Amino acid sequence: MTTALITGATSGIGAAFARRLASDGHNVVLVARDPERLRDQATELHDRHGVEAEVLRADLSTDKGIAAVEERVADRTHPVDLLVNNAGFGNKGNYLDVPMAEELTMLKVHCEAVLRLTSAAAASMRERGRGGVVNVASVAAFVPRGTYGASKAWIVQFTQGAARDLAGNGVRLMALCPGFVRTEFHGRAGMGTGNIPSWMWLDADKLVDAALRDLARGKSLSIPDPRYKTLMGIAKLTPRGALSRVTSSTGRKYGPQ
Ligand SMILES: NC(=O)c1ccc[n+]([C@@H]2O[C@H](COP(=O)([O-])OP(=O)(O)OC[C@H]3O[C@@H](n4cnc5c(N)ncnc54)[C@H](OP(=O)(O)O)[C@@H]3O)[C@@H](O)[C@H]2O)c1
Repeated sequence: MTTALITGATSGIGAAFARRLASDGHNVVLVARDPERLRDQATELHDRHGVEAEVLRADLSTDKGIAAVEERVADRTHPVDLLVNNAGFGNKGNYLDVPMAEELTMLKVHCEAVLRLTSAAAASMRERGRGGVVNVASVAAFVPRGTYGASKAWIVQFTQGAARDLAGNGVRLMALCPGFVRTEFHGRAGMGTGNIPSWMWLDADKLVDAALRDLARGKSLSIPDPRYKTLMGIAKLTPRGALSRVTSSTGRKYGPQ
């Protein structure tokens, strides 16, 4: 039996990872802030799939929270075989509308926590000669979209660089770049979603299936849907200025509720 630790495991994409990994027979360590949701989910996964489901309450926007999860992923006596750095959130509004404290919290959760947890896990996995890390980024990494897009671009660059450095050590690292997924993400940020065409929405469970297939194939970057692969191909060929105008006006449209 192997163990997977998932951050942001109580909702959306993280919950889909936890369901799928538990149904495959992996023990799970569930990380988030809300203790009641963590306990409910652990009970459900244990009862349904017969796996061990451990809960670790931690706020990844704090040093204490990051350190607690770092300690767990580095624990050589109860090794974590797969780490999914998924916890994250969005901020509504354009640059200078979002309070600086929230921008910094985003960098802490999306960048510092991902750096520290990946590094703690990868060091221990390299010693064992096996393991995997999935860092959940976004297709927003490839377009100019404020601190959110920049933090996700950092995840992609960091993860692909680390994957290259650890090649041949038995440790797989992959950045996962979803498009729009129906989760609590937009509601929590107070973002309206009425203007997003229905064909752009992805299902969290299918996304996770595709992501785990890509990880098994040894990819370091996963854009797990043909629609978004095509869109990102077009984005690569579009001049930066034009791309920035489109993505910023799209952002403004779906931003305010
Ligand atoms: N939904 C999309 O369209 C979309 C698209 C591309 C990428 N993504 C990325 O996918 C990831 C998951 O998002 P989602 O859509 O599944 O959102 P979600 O439904 O809002 O779930 C977010 C999860 O993260 C946890 N979390 C948030 N802040 C945390 C913190 N400071 N410390 C610990 N846990 C925290 C939440 O639990 P608690 O509140 O209990 O802590 C929850 O379990 C994010 O990184 C997001 O950027 C989402």
